[in-house]
Amino acid sequence: MVYQTAQHLMGEIRRLKAEKSVYIIAHYYQNGDIQDIADFVGDSYAMAVAAKNSPQDTILVAGVDFMAESAAILCPDKTVLSPEPTATCPMANSIEVSDILRFKRDHPEGLVVSYVNTPAAIKAVSDICVTSSNAAKIIEKLPQDVPIFFIPDQNLGRNIAARLDRPLEFFPASCPIHAQVTPESILEKKAQHPDAAVLVHPECDPQVVALADYVGSTAGIIDYAAKSDRRQLIIGTECGIFHKINQVCPDTELILADPVLVCQDMKKITLEKILNSLQTMETRIKVPEDIRVKAAVALEKMIEYASS
Ligand code: 13P
Ligand code: SF4
Repeated sequence: MVYQTAQHLMGEIRRLKAEKSVYIIAHYYQNGDIQDIADFVGDSYAMAVAAKNSPQDTILVAGVDFMAESAAILCPDKTVLSPEPTATCPMANSIEVSDILRFKRDHPEGLVVSYVNTPAAIKAVSDICVTSSNAAKIIEKLPQDVPIFFIPDQNLGRNIAARLDRPLEFFPASCPIHAQVTPESILEKKAQHPDAAVLVHPECDPQVVALADYVGSTAGIIDYAAKSDRRQLIIGTECGIFHKINQVCPDTELILADPVLVCQDMKKITLEKILNSLQTMETRIKVPEDIRVKAAVALEKMIEYASS
């Protein structure tokens, strides 16, 4: 049967997920129609917690691979489905286990703080995970006198180091989308929209962050937009976030900070692929148990530190 419209696809997805009791978790960078059929939409931290607390035994993750993997790591007794397992985060894949082991060999007392944008094997050799919504809070709770290797996003790391006034060691990787936003493009947008506030994700270069009125995770940006009295906002993160901001402040004009802010991997997920995943109950995301157990320690520690 051919489903010709998004409405048909959304109807079928809603019917099948109810019939098969599947809980759909989506990221804010997904297309709006995918956010609309999801049971839960959030930033990467909230997605991990939502998976852990999922009321259903089958979870479908509409996001890139590390997000589905985090769900599989935290929920060993649940079935985790990815509608498109090739949707990945190039930055997450840039670091090797050997990079971490080298740091540990040179700094036996050091701690490895791993952004959740990493594969399970990297989490398994990390001391704790963080997301952009809790990295500063968590690092503040770590011992002051030990070296910290913050991996893999050097921009997020540098922004946190500056905020906490604490030196961190970095890995030379960054998000290929956010890292392309330049101070010049922000200044140009500010000149065009002098009354607008600038909201950016901390994966942007510190020089971009220095020009912003607010820096935070996707959920933080949405909260700030909802509370702001500005009627124009320059948004320095992936364009999928417009869907939720438009819902929470429909009278606000949103200006994308730079046309580069489209994550092609996030956009690999489509309604057709979600429907196919529900029909076939594929692709099941499984993490080898020895890696899963170790990675779960780092993720659970993140949840414990972030929520206390
Ligand atoms: P958030 O945790 O802010 O949603 O960020 C995820 C991400 O991949 C940003 O590029
Ligand atoms: Fe990775 Fe950047 Fe895409 Fe986020 S926006 S998933 S960090 S490539």
